[in-house]
Amino acid sequence: MSTVSTRRKITTKTIRARKGKTKITSLTAYDYPTAKLVDGAGVDVILVGDSLGMVILGYPDTTHVTMDDMVHHTKAVSRAKPNALLVSDMPFLSFGVTRSETILNAGRLICEGGAEAVKLEGGVRVRDDIRALVECQIPVMGHVGLTPQSVHQFGGFRVQGKKEAEAEQVLRDAVAVQEGGGFSLVLEGIPSELGERITREIDIPTIGIGAGPDCDGQVLVTQDMLNLFRDFTPKFVKIYSDLGENALEAMERFCQEVRDGIFPEEEHSF
Ligand code: KIV
Repeated sequence: MSTVSTRRKITTKTIRARKGKTKITSLTAYDYPTAKLVDGAGVDVILVGDSLGMVILGYPDTTHVTMDDMVHHTKAVSRAKPNALLVSDMPFLSFGVTRSETILNAGRLICEGGAEAVKLEGGVRVRDDIRALVECQIPVMGHVGLTPQSVHQFGGFRVQGKKEAEAEQVLRDAVAVQEGGGFSLVLEGIPSELGERITREIDIPTIGIGAGPDCDGQVLVTQDMLNLFRDFTPKFVKIYSDLGENALEAMERFCQEVRDGIFPEEEHSF
């Protein structure tokens, strides 16, 4: 049952005020029909994640995603006019190089794409970028821990913060996002205890993905939770419905019915 018609528009303020109160829900969308479904389900935050590089565009990781890709997909999602807060990802090297590029690229996601906030990966390293964006009135969601854009630096998609020194670094990164003025923070691929500790120690809401049950909210990639992306399934994913398998069965049945002369029937013909 859709709850969308009675819902009030979710803003960065709504999300900020959820800390320690009601859990925040977030799913990704990269196109108009998925955005309508996600919003209709009553999700709080629609994320146009750069995960689109892997689950939609077929790249091996997210480092190949461009600003043009992100603007194109953010535009499609914003046409759904969601009640959910629309957050769009800043792709690899679209921030953290020069301050003016960071601002202009984030500005494209807002002005051209229709996003209401941007997300960027990193902590201490990007604190001043976050501050500059917030000063330009662009709300920022941070993202620390297993940051997928660091895949080559990490030597693979590895859980971060297992060792004490690493855990302290992830905590410092989380604090840096808050100091920069971020309104919320994605925690990805860290031990549950660290997710709990960061959530307790910072004032902005944490949204976990593979960061344990104690975060202020949870986010999943829609293609993962519906098993529409079947190359691999990370441990932190729960498959809520196997649409991938259903789609395959339906497509096989279509092929069979065409070959057998069963489709189209009278009702599908003019
Ligand atoms: O790109 C993405 O979808 C993300 C989520 C996994 C948080 O960053």
